[in-house]
Amino acid sequence: MAKVLVTGAAGFVGRHLIPRLLERGDEVHAVDNVAPLTGAIDPDEGWPLFEPRDHSEFHFSRRDCRSFFEERKDRDFDYAFHLAAIVGGRAVIEANPLAVAEDLGIDAAYWKWAAEARPAKTVCFSSSAAYPIGLQRPEHYVLLEEHLISFSGEAPVLGMPDLSYGWAKLTHEYLGRLAYERHGLASVTYRPFSGYGEDQDLTYPFPSICRRAIEQQGAAELVVWGSGDQMRDFIHVDDCVEGVLSTMDSIDDGDALNLSTGIYTSMKQLAAAAAAVCGYQPEVRGMSDRPEGVFARGGDTTKQAELGFVASTPLADGVRRAVEHLDSTRSAARS
Ligand SMILES: NC(=O)c1ccc[n+]([C@@H]2O[C@H](COP(=O)([O-])OP(=O)(O)OC[C@H]3O[C@@H](n4cnc5c(N)ncnc54)[C@H](O)[C@@H]3O)[C@@H](O)[C@H]2O)c1
Repeated sequence: MAKVLVTGAAGFVGRHLIPRLLERGDEVHAVDNVAPLTGAIDPDEGWPLFEPRDHSEFHFSRRDCRSFFEERKDRDFDYAFHLAAIVGGRAVIEANPLAVAEDLGIDAAYWKWAAEARPAKTVCFSSSAAYPIGLQRPEHYVLLEEHLISFSGEAPVLGMPDLSYGWAKLTHEYLGRLAYERHGLASVTYRPFSGYGEDQDLTYPFPSICRRAIEQQGAAELVVWGSGDQMRDFIHVDDCVEGVLSTMDSIDDGDALNLSTGIYTSMKQLAAAAAAVCGYQPEVRGMSDRPEGVFARGGDTTKQAELGFVASTPLADGVRRAVEHLDSTRSAARS
């Protein structure tokens, strides 16, 4: 049985990671302040897909992880999964870049704590937003490979990341490298692409498009944010968790791994897929006054495959699961 810390435990990724850790028999210390502007769901109100309160090894502390770091210097954590962050959907990242910059403070506090408490392994959550946006434009885009961000040499980063969110993640990654080099702290860094799942906060495109497709069932037209031609690499959150658990012991020096499928899907294609599950074929149109972010963000999968991980949930299955879940919660709310 491992003793495990999970910060940001009440968030979307935490709610899918924690069941797997409890299943393995781990003692899970979960910390989360259920922050506004995030995808948090308070465990004391029950989670949509899993009931953590049924498990005696789930220990939840509702507090800012920075106050946890000040007080708790336990030196016997086997793993620390550091998920806590102000993320939010595109609207938060674009409209609230200074609120998102709080991640710099959260991550700095994490690494300061880690240098004292010395968890045997840190599992860091960076993001695909750390990659240069210049490689994600309509006129030039590539499947993003891990080495495109490098902290050695004279030009460590090849271009601007995505706003303060991406910048904070780059700094987080760099601190992880320094923690390894200067303090001998083992860590691995993940760069998830567009993680999705049925219980994701509705500020994210995936669930909001699925919900719109349900609500407008049978309509001739369906709208999506931006041009609708912008493309993302959607990976089911359960695949993200599997990718983490199956590879985290292979890297110790803070090196990064994508969590991606290598498949681009446009928002229009996603909306059409959701409508098809609902049994209709609308014309899908963009709403150009809404933010769309970069044009094409997809992650190369070569390094994941070399470490033995390949995402296995087809997007069509993920869409079906989400539509069924959202439809059933909507019907339950009505009755
Ligand atoms: N979901 C994805 O597709 C995705 C993609 C890229 C990166 N990530 C990264 O993975 C991690 C988890 O993302 P998520 O999707 O679960 O986000 P989320 O918004 O659902 O969860 C983040 C959690 O962190 C908590 N939190 C924020 N500030 C805190 C603080 N000071 N102390 C304690 N808890 C705090 C929030 O309350 C929330 O529960 C984040 O670091 C995020 O940047 C996720």
